[in-house]
Amino acid sequence: MEQARQWLKKASKIAVLTGAGISAESRVPTFRGPRGMWRRLRPEDLATPGAFARDPKLVWEWYAWRRGLIAETKPNAGHRALARLEERTGEFALVTQNVDGLHDRAGSRNILKVHGDIWDVRCLECGNESREERLKFPELPPRCACGGMLRPGVVWFGEGMHAGVWDAAERAVEACDVMLVVGTSAVVYPAAGLVPLAKVAGAKVIEINLEETPFSASLDKSFRGKAGELLPELIGG
Ligand code: OAD
Repeated sequence: MEQARQWLKKASKIAVLTGAGISAESRVPTFRGPRGMWRRLRPEDLATPGAFARDPKLVWEWYAWRRGLIAETKPNAGHRALARLEERTGEFALVTQNVDGLHDRAGSRNILKVHGDIWDVRCLECGNESREERLKFPELPPRCACGGMLRPGVVWFGEGMHAGVWDAAERAVEACDVMLVVGTSAVVYPAAGLVPLAKVAGAKVIEINLEETPFSASLDKSFRGKAGELLPELIGG
C-alpha cells in the first residue's frame, strides 16, 4: 500500500478508470457479480439499439427506474477521494464507464464518460442533445419539443462511443505515469482495453476491486477491498 501511495504522490500525470463497483457503496446496483443487474435482466433486452427499436417503452421504464434509484444516492468516500486526487495532480483524467453522475457530484472535473450519462437525452428526430433531470415523464418514451422520441444519452452494446471522449481517454491513459483501475470487472471492451494500453505505454497500474479481474495478476498492484475504504487510504485526506 505504501509503495502505491508514493507512486500516486510523485506522479504528475494520473489516469483513472472506474466502473460500477465505485458506486456500489452508494447503493447503485452493479451489472455483474452476485447481485448484479445482468443476473436477472438481459442486456440484449434493455441495453442495445435493437432493444430500443423493438420496445422503447420497456427500455425507458428500466432507465426511469435506475434514474429514480440514482437520484436518491450520493457520492461516497471513494468518489470524494478521487476528486481530491485530481486537485493535487498536474494532469488528471477520470475515465468512467458509469453513467450515474456521482463523480460530477463529488467534485471531479476532468471526467471522460465513455458510456455516456443517464441524465442526458437525445432526440431521434432532430438529434438535439439535452440534460433531463425529471424523474416522472408525462409519457414513456418521453418526447422532444419537436415531437420526436427521446432516447437516453448512454452508449449501448453494439454502439460506438463518442469519438472525442474516447480519443481523450486513450491519450490520457497513454500519457499517464500512474493509472488507477477501480471497481470494474474489466470485461467490456473497448473500455477494458485501456488497462493493457496503460501497461504497454509504461505506466504503473494499480487496481482496486472486491474480486480478482482478468488483469489482476499482470498489474503492478492489485488490492482486494472496497473502493470507499481503500481509495481514501491510498490517497489520503
Ligand atoms: P460490473 O458490474 O461488470 O463490475 C463491477 C465490479 O466492481 C466487479 O468487478 C466487482 O467485483 C467490483 N466491486 C463491487 N463492489 C465494489 C466495491 N465496493 N469496491 C470495489 N470494487 C467493487 O461493472 P463495470 O465493470 O462497470 O455497460 O461494467 C462495465 C459495463 O458493463 C458497464 O458500463 C455497462 C455494463 O453492461 C453498458 O451498459 C454499455
